[in-house]
Amino acid sequence: MSKEQWTAVDRYLTDLLVAPDAALDAALAASAAAGLPAINVTPNLGKLLFLLARMQGARNILEFGTLGGYSTIWLARALPAGGRLITLESDPKHAEVARANIARAGLSNVVDLRVGRALDLLPGVAADMRAPFDFVFIDADKPNNPEYFARSLELSRLGSLIIVDNVIRNGAVIEEDSSDPGVQAVRRMNEMLRAERRVTATALQTVGSKGYDGFAMVLVTSDPKQRSQ
Ligand code: SAH
Ligand code: DHB
Ligand code: MG
Repeated sequence: MSKEQWTAVDRYLTDLLVAPDAALDAALAASAAAGLPAINVTPNLGKLLFLLARMQGARNILEFGTLGGYSTIWLARALPAGGRLITLESDPKHAEVARANIARAGLSNVVDLRVGRALDLLPGVAADMRAPFDFVFIDADKPNNPEYFARSLELSRLGSLIIVDNVIRNGAVIEEDSSDPGVQAVRRMNEMLRAERRVTATALQTVGSKGYDGFAMVLVTSDPKQRSQ
């Protein structure tokens, strides 16, 4: 099995099941033209996020890591009328590209893009009364994932869904002594998922055009306000 094959199968699935979409295609083209790294979710993972948010009946979504707004557009499209998405991005250049992409998709009134480090922005998010969030997508700087998970849980409700991208890292997640802070952070977050009684979780390995990685899926199973430990 090779990355070429995974990419070919991703293309096959995407051509079959992910309808061509001018705004999503334009978002990727504009992101590439502006020199943004091509680390957005794949089209089929984007569609999975859309499906999960729909299944969740999400009305309020929180995203960590906007980049050019590709995953943002997928998630915002899952919202019903009156739904809102807050997305947090630390790089002003990424945010500028994302803002234009989100506007082109007709979603400027749905998406609230905030520029700054996520941990600095979260107090404002919490004060904003959009919480609890029905759905959270964590996809920013990986070393902060344990903190992002902890803060997301506090902004959740019974039944909220939290998705964390990039938890397999080409299999490096099993390297106990890894010198990669992102890997160590994912391992710490996984320990939190095991110990945290207010959630139940799984994680899946994926292959595709972005190589070998995966995501974690966390369901909040008791009211986060009721601290159980
Ligand atoms: N979710 C996007 C990809 C995000 S890539 C998609 O799938 O389309 C990760 C993004 O997180 C980058 O744009 C990076 O600038 C941003 N980021 C890095 N550190 C951050 C921080 N501390 N707070 C908020 N965003 C951060
Ligand atoms: C990286 C970040 C991502 O969110 C991703 O999906 C893939 C790679 C990275 O920082 O390398
Ligand atoms: Mg990612």
